[in-house]
Amino acid sequence: MEWKTTIGTDLDQAASWLRQGELVAIPTETVYGLAGNALDEQAVVKIFETKERPLYNPLIIHVAHAEQARSLVLDWDDQVQALMDAFWPGPLTLLLERSPAVPDLVCAGLSRVALRMPDHPLTLDLIKRCDFPLAAPSANLFGRISPTTAAHVFSQLNHRIPYILDGGPCRVGVESTIVGKEANEWKIYRAGGVTRAELEPIIGKVKKVNPADRPDAPGMLPWHYAPRTPLTLGGSAENPADRIGWLRFSSLGPGIPGERQFVLAPDGDLHTAARRLYAGLHELDALGLDQLIAEPVPNKGIGRAINDRLKRAAATRQG
Ligand code: TXA
Ligand code: MG
Repeated sequence: MEWKTTIGTDLDQAASWLRQGELVAIPTETVYGLAGNALDEQAVVKIFETKERPLYNPLIIHVAHAEQARSLVLDWDDQVQALMDAFWPGPLTLLLERSPAVPDLVCAGLSRVALRMPDHPLTLDLIKRCDFPLAAPSANLFGRISPTTAAHVFSQLNHRIPYILDGGPCRVGVESTIVGKEANEWKIYRAGGVTRAELEPIIGKVKKVNPADRPDAPGMLPWHYAPRTPLTLGGSAENPADRIGWLRFSSLGPGIPGERQFVLAPDGDLHTAARRLYAGLHELDALGLDQLIAEPVPNKGIGRAINDRLKRAAATRQG
C-alpha cells in the first residue's frame, strides 16, 4: 500500500487510523515509534513489513496506565511496582512474563513481553483514546538511524504509513533502558534513558548483560542505528581535503572544516548529547561524505547509552 503520508497533531485522525488496523508514527520522550494495535496480529505484521524488520526481533508494547500493563503480564511483584512508580511514564522498559493476551508475534515467540509507559502527553492521550496498547519499535527502517523528529520519520517512512503524529523533538533522544529479572537477578539488556545509578536505589544490584554472551538479548544486534555513510568510533582526520565528517562531544576538533562537524553538547552536558545524537547522525549522513568519525562521549550515566549506540552504528554491516 502506498500512502500519502500526513504529518499533524490530530489525535482523532491518528486514533482512527489505528482503530482501522493501520500504522501511525508516534512521539515519545526517547525516539519516535512506529505504532500499531498490539493486540491485532495483522497490524503487528504491518509493523514488521513497513520497517523491514526481521520477525525474530520482538516489539515493545506501550501502555497508558498500570492496569493496561497488568492485563498483559503474569508476574507482578513489589519491585516491579516500585520501578513503575519511580520511572513510569518514562524511558524504562520492563521485560515481564507475558499473559496469553499478548500475540506471539509481538514477542517473537519469547516468554516475556517488553512494556513501557512513554512520557509524552500526545501519545498517552492517543493510547487512552484507542483503548488498546500500542506495539511500537523505533520509527526507522531496520538497522538505520532512529528518528527524534517528525521530519526524521518522514524521510524514512514517507509513503509507507498514513500518519505521523508530530509531538516535537524528543526530549531524551536515546531509546529506553530495558531491564528484566533472570534467576532472581536484575539485568540491563539495553542501556538507555534511565541509568543504572538511578535503578539501583530502587531494586538493588543490577547487572549489565554482555551482548556477546547473549545474541538473543534485546537491542543487541551488533550493527544498528547506522548512517549510510561508513562510521568509525574514534580517530581523527589529518587532511582537511578528505571527505570526512566528525561527530564531536563538546567542542569542534582540529583539521576538519566546521561545517562538516556536529558538536553534540556545546554545554558539555551528556543529556544534551543524548538529545542531539540521532539528529547529529542524520545531519552528517545527509552531507553524503565518504566517512564519518564519532568521538566517544564520557562513559558515565546516559553517556553509556550514547557510546553503545555509536559502537553499534560503527559495527560492520552484514548484508
Ligand atoms: O525508547 C524506546 O524503547 C523506543 C520507543 C519507540 O519506545 N522503542 C524502541 O523499540 O527502541 P525497538 O524495537 O527499536 O527496540 C526494542 C528492543 C529490541 O531490541 C527488541 O529486541 C527488544 O527491545 N525486545 C522487545 N521485546 C522483547 C522481548 N519480549 N524479549 C526480549 N527483547 C525484547
Ligand atoms: Mg530501534
